[in-house]
Amino acid sequence: MMRQLQHLATAASLLVPALFAHSAAAASEINLPSYHYGDPIKVECMNRSSETGEHIQLANNEIEWVPFPVCNETQKPLEFHYGIEGEVNCTIPMVSDPFFHLLEFYLHADAPLMCRLANRPPQHIEAVGEQPHTPEHIPLVFALAGTLQMSHLHIATHLNVLLHSTPKHHIHPHDSGVIDSGIAYSTSPLAHNVPGAEGKGGRTAAAAENSRRLIIGDPLPLSFSVRWFPTPHLPKTEGHVEWSGMGNHVGPSTVFYSLVSFLAGLIVSAVYFFGTVLPKRLKGRALGGATPLGYGIGTGGGVGNGWGIATKRAMD
Ligand SMILES: *[C@@H]1O[C@H](CO)[C@@H](O)[C@H](O)[C@H]1NC(C)=O
Ligand SMILES: *[C@@H]1O[C@H](CO)[C@@H](O)[C@H](O)[C@H]1NC(C)=O
Ligand SMILES: *[C@@H]1O[C@H](CO)[C@@H](O)[C@H](O)[C@H]1NC(C)=O
Repeated sequence: MMRQLQHLATAASLLVPALFAHSAAAASEINLPSYHYGDPIKVECMNRSSETGEHIQLANNEIEWVPFPVCNETQKPLEFHYGIEGEVNCTIPMVSDPFFHLLEFYLHADAPLMCRLANRPPQHIEAVGEQPHTPEHIPLVFALAGTLQMSHLHIATHLNVLLHSTPKHHIHPHDSGVIDSGIAYSTSPLAHNVPGAEGKGGRTAAAAENSRRLIIGDPLPLSFSVRWFPTPHLPKTEGHVEWSGMGNHVGPSTVFYSLVSFLAGLIVSAVYFFGTVLPKRLKGRALGGATPLGYGIGTGGGVGNGWGIATKRAMD
């Protein structure tokens, strides 16, 4: 009995500090700053050698992160704003010789345009004696697309930027003010190949406008369509889009029609089978070991093949 109590006491003495440590960690997690709607988020990128494309390593073996190039529109390096969706323009006023060579590495995928965002805003108030919180970052790759030519390059200058925040459990879907992940990628990378793309006509003209022939010294007009998601999940189109090969009018009524015609086909086949095929067979010979069901479907003579979807397509 005494021994058991001793064990219990030892266990408790081990457990109690652990509990305190846990709650302390939880408390400091709560005290960490989080972004508010509209807060600026700086984009920092890996500094790379324009000769080799390799990242620059600092004396302490750390990677050197430098601000994204300055945008002519804001006279500041590129920034995004927490939760704010929309179009952001960032024209790099003049592509220098080293930057041009870096673009060649990016377009050729020899090196990624690897950037990062702080997952939380910088901490302002530091309590005395408290360890300052070391910022954590999420990677943001700018998947720039284009083609290299002898004297110039083509670059798809419009990029989609998808940013996710971590979810917060709440009655209503709610974000946490903490960034979870992100990606940026050029859209319509083949636009410069489209014949007559320089000409007129809706989407191709827009795509061609976002494809830039670039030489050293040119401005580089980047544009970003920024979208935010309050969780790491992506929304689904849930059948609102008619994908190629899906048929013309796929919707609940088509599904219903398909189901009805499928069942009708099945019934017609069954009636035909049990009414005509089976009695004939039964007359011919005794029902043997081989199941006759294998013959029933598909011999409906065009009355109903059992696949209502195909019937529906043919009627469209
Ligand atoms: C990037 O590294 C190069 C080579 O070390 C250096 O000359 C350059 O100043 C760095 N860029 C920035 C923005 O610090
Ligand atoms: C971005 O640039 C395009 C083309 O120059 C322009 O039409 C558009 O209004 C600009 N958008 C913003 C938000 O400045
Ligand atoms: C940069 O901005 C200035 C002032 O708005 C403008 O005059 C100039 O044409 C811009 N340069 C480029 C390359 O867009």
